[in-house]
Amino acid sequence: MSSSKQKGTKAPKKSPAHKKVSAKQKKSSLKEKSSETAITSMLHESRVFNPPKALAKNALIGSEQQYKKMWNESVKNPDKFWGKQAKENLEWIKPFKKVLNWKPPYAKWFEDGKLNVSVNCLDRHCRSERRNKAALIWEGEPGDSRVLTYNDLLREVSKCANALRALGVKAGNRVAIYMPMIPEITIAMLACTRIGAMHTVIFGGFSSEALADRCNDSQSSVIITADGGYRKGSSVPLKKNVDMALEKTTSVKNVIVVKRTGENVSMKQNRDHWWHDLVNPQSGICEPYAADSEHPLFLLYTSGSTGKPKGILHTTGGYLLGATVSYKYVFDLKETDTYWCTADAGWVTGHSYIVYGPLSNGATTVMYEGAPNYPDWGRIWSIIEKHHVSILYTAPTAIRACIRAGNEWPKKYNLKSLRLLGSVGEPINPEAWIWYQEVIGEKRCPIVDTWWQTETGGMMITPIPGAIPQIPGSATRPFFGIDAEIVDKNGKPVPQGAGGFLVIKKPWPSMLRTIWGDDERFKAAYWSQVPGVYFTGDGARQDKKGNFWIMGRIDDVLNVSGHRLSTMEIESALVSYDIVAEAAVVGRPDDLKGEGIVCFVTLKSGTKPSPEIKEKLSKHVVGQIGALARPDEIRFADALPKTRSGKIMRRLLRDIAAGKQSTQDTTTLEDFSVLASLRQDED
Ligand code: WT7
Repeated sequence: MSSSKQKGTKAPKKSPAHKKVSAKQKKSSLKEKSSETAITSMLHESRVFNPPKALAKNALIGSEQQYKKMWNESVKNPDKFWGKQAKENLEWIKPFKKVLNWKPPYAKWFEDGKLNVSVNCLDRHCRSERRNKAALIWEGEPGDSRVLTYNDLLREVSKCANALRALGVKAGNRVAIYMPMIPEITIAMLACTRIGAMHTVIFGGFSSEALADRCNDSQSSVIITADGGYRKGSSVPLKKNVDMALEKTTSVKNVIVVKRTGENVSMKQNRDHWWHDLVNPQSGICEPYAADSEHPLFLLYTSGSTGKPKGILHTTGGYLLGATVSYKYVFDLKETDTYWCTADAGWVTGHSYIVYGPLSNGATTVMYEGAPNYPDWGRIWSIIEKHHVSILYTAPTAIRACIRAGNEWPKKYNLKSLRLLGSVGEPINPEAWIWYQEVIGEKRCPIVDTWWQTETGGMMITPIPGAIPQIPGSATRPFFGIDAEIVDKNGKPVPQGAGGFLVIKKPWPSMLRTIWGDDERFKAAYWSQVPGVYFTGDGARQDKKGNFWIMGRIDDVLNVSGHRLSTMEIESALVSYDIVAEAAVVGRPDDLKGEGIVCFVTLKSGTKPSPEIKEKLSKHVVGQIGALARPDEIRFADALPKTRSGKIMRRLLRDIAAGKQSTQDTTTLEDFSVLASLRQDED
């Protein structure tokens, strides 16, 4: 059976704002080859949203033509392009002469230049009319709030930097940060950069075990933490976790503790210091360290599909340039914007787009401490109304949770201040995209669906809002300097429209430099699958217009009767059905087909699971994708197991689907009761 015969699908819930592509275009997008190495792509989306005229008129990049011209220059002559961007957007203590030194897979950017990240994020704005502008607007979960101007932030960062120096922290040393989402997390990160120390932020939801592993791997000498952090009205015992972790580490000599919840904690003499005792009395002036551009900036641990977490290393000049320039163009930043990214600072999104990108650009960044549904599902929208947020950057999983909670929540609040929306973290299914556009953006706001990774440091594939038409489900075009291609396992480009492996062919400034302490793993994971190019690990296809459609991790591909199907496309088909809130699709061994398709489905509140619904869903998937994708089993679940960053834990679902007791690591699972109930649900 040829998979190229699939029919284009009509989404059941259509938006009147969409513009259809011509029949001819549609036909050509269906010409797909299914080869041994390619991934069969069968989802088709025909709605196109052009940049709003008013936005384009005042945009930094206001036409597709301008984007194309700049992109062409950026990949034809990267030295010239990035040299100019680095001069215009960053302040250098010692100007660079050389832009790039590329000895694959090792890149050095601006290697003879020197700069300081905190000076770029703070001092230079304090010398300008931005001095008293809000740098950080913070909202605590219980409802308390703080605003720090650029001047305030510089003073607090300097004090913290002096405190770290007083503890003996030197340039190149590692400082672990294990904190709730409070202003001190930003202060601590910037304080490290001020003195050239590397930070490694460990997400506050991680266990003491995970914390100990990361401290040991990075050989951190200091941990900055808090007594506890608020989450859904109760407290996460951070200091207690630190105490347990320290029983398993030897490198940590000092702990700095912010008093946040006021809960009882034990303080060990000579090791543990209250922030208010140690940091507050320090001088508010701190001489910045002049870092080489390639000086290590931070480590951030990310899980691989196997083995221990990888410590992704980013360095100073290139990373900061990538975060700064992508933030500016992709959010088409205006001086008056109030920007809110809902990620946790413990993930790369928080690093690049809560802290470094916004502050380097002199923007106002909002930070929220707690859960999105505390005290109710109106919290996100109330924060937007309260602070007049103009740009919202969030994740598809959060969007789907809001859809599930119901439209009455956003409808209660005034969202008129919003002008631009962003999405990151996983493919956004078209139905969630349309909901985001209609209910939150009130059909007024463009959506930037930004594809990137911890390893890439900054956005790689994304629409530029004033220039590139958006298509629900597609991250559209490569960012400046990004030379992306879809290839088969031999590195050969696949025919246009066919699925394959997404690779990046040229180095870019914010790329990872290595895996901490493991150059061999760095080479094996990213530079060996397809020689000479960066291997992203994602499947994707490219349409005729050059738009990229990310199909998810290659590990998330099913092989059904010899066809490689993207689980994400089947999920997207399920979620396009009215009553479905969320879906996860995994494979299970099948003697006949190689792999069978198992769907875990969460229904919207108010709908009861039934065999009839199973039947309808199955038919719907067949209608949307084809008989090849007919589910072998559909299971209903109240919730799906997710990591704390919101990614569905497919490896766990795979075990459940295969009827195995899971041996997988569940330290990052958000809610253990979910697992128990999924098991119970076995027919
Ligand atoms: C993986 C990277 C990027 C910061 C947060 C996640 C998936 C991310 C998108 C998107 C489709 C996406 C990819 C990627 N992903 N953004 N817009 N569309 N997929 O960082 O934890 O390093 O994960 O997330 O699979 O490889 P990360």
